[in-house]
Amino acid sequence: MTKLMVWPYFRRGPYPYVELDYNQHSYGPRREIRGDWLEFSFAAFRLIRETGRCPVNAFVTVGTGVGLDAIGAAHILRPQHIVALDIHEQVAELAHRNIEHNVRIPEPHPVVDVLQSDMLTALSPGFKADLIYENLPNIPAYKPLDYRQDILSATYFARAVETVVDAPIAQYLLSSHHDILRQSLNFLSPTGHVLCSIGGRVPVSVLDHLFESAGYRHQVLVVGLKEQTEAEEVLSGYRWAEAEHGVVFRFVDLDGADIVPGVQLLGPVSWLQVEELTAVWPWISAHEAWSRWRQGHRVGHLVFAILAHPQAPVC
Ligand SMILES: C[S@@+](CC[C@H](N)C(=O)[O-])C[C@H]1O[C@@H](n2cnc3c(N)ncnc32)[C@H](O)[C@@H]1O
Repeated sequence: MTKLMVWPYFRRGPYPYVELDYNQHSYGPRREIRGDWLEFSFAAFRLIRETGRCPVNAFVTVGTGVGLDAIGAAHILRPQHIVALDIHEQVAELAHRNIEHNVRIPEPHPVVDVLQSDMLTALSPGFKADLIYENLPNIPAYKPLDYRQDILSATYFARAVETVVDAPIAQYLLSSHHDILRQSLNFLSPTGHVLCSIGGRVPVSVLDHLFESAGYRHQVLVVGLKEQTEAEEVLSGYRWAEAEHGVVFRFVDLDGADIVPGVQLLGPVSWLQVEELTAVWPWISAHEAWSRWRQGHRVGHLVFAILAHPQAPVC
């Protein structure tokens, strides 16, 4: 088991660590939460709790990986019901053990369900969530891929996503986010929200459009800068998309700029603030990021935690 310090992120309890098991298919931080996607997601959970904007009785995470997102939600948001979903059977089993082991909440202890599920398909019809959290893979399986191998399911989505009418959403590799936003409309309570953790490697206008097109109003809660992990696979995927779709993604050479990864802005944040923050950053394409990474540079990208609520009332 690996111990990770959680006190900077969770409400303080008697024990400052989580203890996690991993397997070769599971995705999640292995040494510390700092620098991981969850550093930003936990900041968003805290903002949701502090503002009381979205009371969370039923929490769903889709693509839970090792289950740390559900453990964090249990401690920060204190929902009564937690549902953790992952497409990979062995990941779901592992997440279940990790969640049971680490959710040390005094009575009432939340009800926890962990299910193998492709997106939200395992949810019962009629189930309603107050918060659906997602950090789904972005890159389509553009090369032969054994989907069940290693942790590639955390990088690539192999299944066909809904046909997205808007070309930029597909070209900028945002289809899995669009798909989960559309599916979530069937499972949100009247005050329910979706929290999307999105690699902000795309122009902000495209992100704006993503939520509009899926039928949501949105608010950026957290803007972070993250070093690109799994760089070999991920940068290859983005290079492929640049060539295939004629678009340019946005990365930063962390060794060529005086910018420190971590949380950059806490929300609600406007896109104008994001543009002001990053206006002088030396942006590079995925092709250039790949070359610099091959030369030994660290490359990074923005991360956005975006809270979305349906434009039309849900029933
Ligand atoms: C990038 S990891 C995110 C882990 C964790 N939620 C976090 O925020 O750090 C993506 C996870 O989504 C899972 N996944 C990929 N495609 C999925 C799908 N169609 N339905 C459900 N889970 C999926 C992967 O197995 C992986 O565990």
